[in-house]
Amino acid sequence: MSLGKVLITGSSSGLGNHLAVYYSEKGHEILLHGRNEKKLIQIQKKINENGEKAKYIVADLNNEEDLKLLCSKAKQENIKILINNAGIICPGLPLKDFSYEKIESMIKVNLIAPIKIINNLVNILDHVININSMVGMEPKKNRSLYAASKWGLRGFSESLLKEEISFKVLDVYPTNIQTWPERENAMDIHFVLKSIYASMINNDKQLILDGRK
Ligand SMILES: NC(=O)c1ccc[n+]([C@@H]2O[C@H](COP(=O)([O-])OP(=O)(O)OC[C@H]3O[C@@H](n4cnc5c(N)ncnc54)[C@H](OP(=O)(O)O)[C@@H]3O)[C@@H](O)[C@H]2O)c1
Repeated sequence: MSLGKVLITGSSSGLGNHLAVYYSEKGHEILLHGRNEKKLIQIQKKINENGEKAKYIVADLNNEEDLKLLCSKAKQENIKILINNAGIICPGLPLKDFSYEKIESMIKVNLIAPIKIINNLVNILDHVININSMVGMEPKKNRSLYAASKWGLRGFSESLLKEEISFKVLDVYPTNIQTWPERENAMDIHFVLKSIYASMINNDKQLILDGRK
């Protein structure tokens, strides 16, 4: 049985990078994505060394033309599983410290891009996984902008499930993840990867990963 080909946005580093390796080890072909081509080539090589197949596309989610290119590449590759992972992570600042440019960019990358990609690919997808955050469920000081993007994504995704759609949707709400070894007070990356994959196979709609003591 051939497993669905996966597009993982923001797979040039962090969680997306780990997800790409994990899904490839499970036997999925991967379409990597990010802006940093050097990093994308490195991870493509790592995956392909193990006999798996990974391609990549460079696209800035702030850029409309790049978004179109990404979607047309996804169609050309017949992507079945979309993991909306790319995100501008939470800098932990009060709202007054954000320029209009930074505000727009966080909302575009974390919220508008996933909506547009899903909208564009509705007819080919079997499964969508939205990497949200615990901040998408709990109000937090100095996280207003990040929260707006993630609460928006939660509202969008949960409402989408009320529509007649032909694909499954899984929303993932993690606390801190150990995406690099020396990160403290963070969940084990292997536990996170295993949990996300198992929830997808199980057709769950929601996965809360709360690693707080
Ligand atoms: N790490 C955690 O503890 C944690 C906890 C909860 C939720 N999350 C969520 O998990 C996801 C991944 O987080 P992470 O910690 O792995 O972040 P990360 O290490 O900063 O990686 C972010 C990824 O997003 C891509 N990206 C950012 N802006 C982009 C843009 N304008 N266009 C295209 N790609 C862009 C980056 O690609 P380039 O560098 O190539 O541009 C990179 O691959 C995010 O949605 C985050 O909110 C993470």
